[in-house]
Amino acid sequence: MKIKGKNYRSVWMENNSIKIIDQTKLPEKFEIIELKNIDEVCDAILTMKVRGAPAIGAAAAFGIAQKAFTSAESDFYANLKKAKTDLLNTRPTAFDLFYAVNKVYKAIMKTDNIKNAKTVGLKEAQKFADENVEACKKIGEYGDELIKNNFRILTHCNAGALATVDFGTALAPIRIAHHNGKNIFVFVDETRPRLQGAKLTAFELSEENIPHAIIADNAAGYFMQKGEIDMVITGADRITANGDAANKIGTYEKAVLAKENNIPFYIAAPISSIDFNCKSGKDIPIEFRDENEIMTFNDIQIAPSKSHAKNPAFDITPAKYITGIITEKGIFKPTEIRKLKEIK
Ligand code: MRU
Repeated sequence: MKIKGKNYRSVWMENNSIKIIDQTKLPEKFEIIELKNIDEVCDAILTMKVRGAPAIGAAAAFGIAQKAFTSAESDFYANLKKAKTDLLNTRPTAFDLFYAVNKVYKAIMKTDNIKNAKTVGLKEAQKFADENVEACKKIGEYGDELIKNNFRILTHCNAGALATVDFGTALAPIRIAHHNGKNIFVFVDETRPRLQGAKLTAFELSEENIPHAIIADNAAGYFMQKGEIDMVITGADRITANGDAANKIGTYEKAVLAKENNIPFYIAAPISSIDFNCKSGKDIPIEFRDENEIMTFNDIQIAPSKSHAKNPAFDITPAKYITGIITEKGIFKPTEIRKLKEIK
C-alpha cells in the first residue's frame, strides 16, 4: 500500500526483526514498530496493533520463525512449542493465525537439523506473507469483474491492505475497479466498537482518493432501502466447509439486510482463511473482548459505571445469505467452497 507516496506492507521482516504498522495509532499517526520477541508479537496481536486475519497470520508466522532463529539449540524444541501455544492462544476466531503458525511449525519440525530449521522457519513465514499478497491481487482481479461502472458498494470493518499483508481482500476489487477507471463510491460502516471502518478503511480509501463516506453502523438499512447500495463486499476471519463465514460483528445483519433488499452480498477471502475441518459456523469459536471497548469512547467512560457490556468481536453469516465467495482461485458459491480443498 502507498502511504504518503511510499510502499509498505502491514507486516514484514527486516534483518530478522519484525516490523508492523501500528494500526491502533492510525489515522492520526503513522508509526512503524519493531517486535523484538515472541511476547511482543503476542501482545501486538492481542492489543490489535496488528489486526485482520491474514495480517495476524503473517505476524504470527514471523513470530514463531524469529523464535526459532534466536533460540539456543539446547532448548530449541521446547521454546518452539511454547511459542506456538502462546501465539495460538492470542485470538481464537481468525483462521489464518492457525494456518500460518502450523505451516511454519511443521516446516521447522520436518527439518532434520536445528541449524537448517532456523532458516527454514524464516523462509516459510516469508512464503506465507508473499503468497498472501499474490492471493489478494487475484481476489482483486476476480472481484473487479463483479463491479459495474457507477456501483455503490458497502463494506464493513477493514478488509484492506492493513488487514492483510498488502492489497486487501474486500478492498482489493474496489482498488482495482477504481484504478481501471470505473466510477465507484464506497459506503464505509464505522464498525464499532474499535472503528476499523472509520479509522482504517477510510484511511486507505483516502490515501488512494477513492470516493467514500463513513456511515454509522446502523445506517446501512436506510441506504439499502433507498436503493443507494448496489453490492456489499466484506472480508472473512474464518470460512467453514459449508460456506458459512465469521467476520467482524455486524456483518451478519448487513447480509440479512442485503438479502431483504435484493442486493448481492460477497465475501472476499484467501484460501488460508478457509477452515475445511470446521463443518459449519456453529463450530467457530467467537472471541469476546473486554467490556471497556463498549463502556468507553476514546478512553472516556460513556456508560454508567454500574452497567456492564457484552462484546462479541465477530458474528457468523450463514451461507444462505452469501451470494459468492471471491478467492484467489475464482468466485465460488458458498456451497461449492469444499472444491477448493482439492484444487488449492
Ligand atoms: O478484530 P479484527 O480487527 O482483527 O477483525 C478484522 C476483521 O473482521 C476483518 O474484516 C477480517 O479480518 C477480514 S479482512 C482480511
